[in-house]
Amino acid sequence: MYVKCPLNYIGGKYKILSNIFEVFPDRIDTFVDLFAGGFNVGINVKANRIICNDHINYIIDLYKFLKDTPVEILINMINERIVEFNLSRFNREGYNLLRDRYNNTKNIVDFFVLTCYSFNHQIRFNNQRNFNTPFGKERSYYNSNIEKNLINFSNMLKIKEIEFINKDFLDIDLSNLEIFDLVYCDPPYLISNGSYNDGNRGFKNWTKNEEYNLLKLLDKLNEQNIRFVLSNVLYHKGLSNDLLIEWSRKYNIYYIDKTYYNCNYQLKSKNTKTVEVLITNY
Ligand SMILES: C[S@@+](CC[C@H](N)C(=O)[O-])C[C@H]1O[C@@H](n2cnc3c(N)ncnc32)[C@H](O)[C@@H]1O
Repeated sequence: MYVKCPLNYIGGKYKILSNIFEVFPDRIDTFVDLFAGGFNVGINVKANRIICNDHINYIIDLYKFLKDTPVEILINMINERIVEFNLSRFNREGYNLLRDRYNNTKNIVDFFVLTCYSFNHQIRFNNQRNFNTPFGKERSYYNSNIEKNLINFSNMLKIKEIEFINKDFLDIDLSNLEIFDLVYCDPPYLISNGSYNDGNRGFKNWTKNEEYNLLKLLDKLNEQNIRFVLSNVLYHKGLSNDLLIEWSRKYNIYYIDKTYYNCNYQLKSKNTKTVEVLITNY
């Protein structure tokens, strides 16, 4: 059983963790989760040391807070908010008041509680970096599943040796890595959209330029004999990522849905399901 991020993170890899770990090497000294997001991969990997990076500061701040705060205190803080704002599946006003307070104070517990009651548990910010997801009327609330995930996730954060970094992937110093280390990259996908992949929300957008720079960085790691795994999609809803397809020929490709192997016809049709892959250099 794997630990699941208590946030409903777009692009989270929880559901395909066993496919991912199947291609990971047995021995990993330092594991770098360069685009950690919901950190579903990094929190579950077997490695001596884990680096958790994302350029979104409030995610990294939340993980640091979850690691440093005893679970009982966390749960108390959450319950205090629920009582203070009378939060429930039906109280839109309470949700909006908490959202206003969060946007004024940027308190990290307020942020977590908001994600419990927001529409589809989504995390969305506007240009001013104000949280603007609407209320998840009649559906979203702090339920026992979220609490279970929160407890397991924060316990695991406390057990493991994790370094948190909050930088653009190009600014991370990877020069000290060695042959038993592994760099895992799960960037936004050029040909599909997540709300973090939206340059209008105060964070850097993911464009062909970022994609190109990432592929160059992976080539450089390869030259230095550092292992990498890249998660991505080659085809999605009639679109293909030709840059990636061309580049991937140098490396090994593992199809998440194994029935796609050798099935090149119709990949550009609009009805094509997403062709999700892992690309490794080992
Ligand atoms: C697909 S999500 C990762 C999901 C994660 N593997 C999981 O299982 O939850 C991609 C992440 O890349 C981050 N990101 C986007 N551009 C970035 C950049 N230039 N530098 C660092 N992180 C970036 C986004 O904030 C987002 O959290």
